[in-house]
Amino acid sequence: MMDGGNMKEMMQRMMSDVLPPGIDPALLPTPTSEGAKLLNLYCAQCHNLPGPGMHTAREWPPVVDRMNRRMRMMSGRGMMGMMMGRVEAPSESELQELVNYLQVHAQIPIDTTRYPELDTPAGRAFHTACSRCHALPDPQQHTTDEWPGVVARMKQNMVAMGKSVPDEASIGEIVQFLQRHASKQE
Ligand code: HEC
Ligand code: HEC
Repeated sequence: MMDGGNMKEMMQRMMSDVLPPGIDPALLPTPTSEGAKLLNLYCAQCHNLPGPGMHTAREWPPVVDRMNRRMRMMSGRGMMGMMMGRVEAPSESELQELVNYLQVHAQIPIDTTRYPELDTPAGRAFHTACSRCHALPDPQQHTTDEWPGVVARMKQNMVAMGKSVPDEASIGEIVQFLQRHASKQE
């Protein structure tokens, strides 16, 4: 029999390519909100903490649905709960709050028709590197100052999920592409 911590560690090792690589709770949007608290409480029981940017607002409900079914199955005293260690499942209202939080802070997909520059070497490098784990991001989600830090975190996500990291020249081109189309400084 395994306790929850061991199970999580083992799963994360065996399935790193399909599990959330994990985000520092302090880097979550509105980290002290009810939604962020619920995410920390329920969604890091089996794998690392998932960031809301992993999916678009449209994609999140079926994903949360799938996770909720797992939590229910493992929260009882049945075989699964016995084998894998007990998992807590959210109430209906907590589940609503969770979905709402994930949707409000979800990945915003780029509107490709507004960016003819996607059809240039820099645009193609961005498209290839940044659409492997989630929808291709809208560059307006961040300012010029913010993008280098976000891309640096994405490099860590690539390593954690066993995906190749583009070379430095290519990363530089991608950051510049994002900065050219970034939102204005606040
Ligand atoms: C009972 C264990 C368990 C809990 C609790 C759990 N997950 Fe998962 N999660 C899994 C497993 C197993 C996978 C890999 C298989 C899959 O994708 O269904 C996974 C994969 C994922 C993925 C990557 C796959 C994808 O479709 O993007 C995301 C994102 C995710 N979980 C989010 C969440 C969120 C959000 C919560 C809380 C609402 C949560 N998980 C709670 C077991 C769990
Ligand atoms: C290996 C998978 C992977 C790849 C490839 C990837 N991302 Fe992400 N991305 C994630 C995960 C996981 C999250 C949620 C956790 C987080 O925010 O770090 C995320 C979240 C985001 C977010 C929302 C969070 C925020 O801070 O705004 C943006 C924007 C983003 N990615 C941009 C990019 C860009 C730009 C690239 C290409 C350089 C990229 N991603 C490539 C996995 C990936």
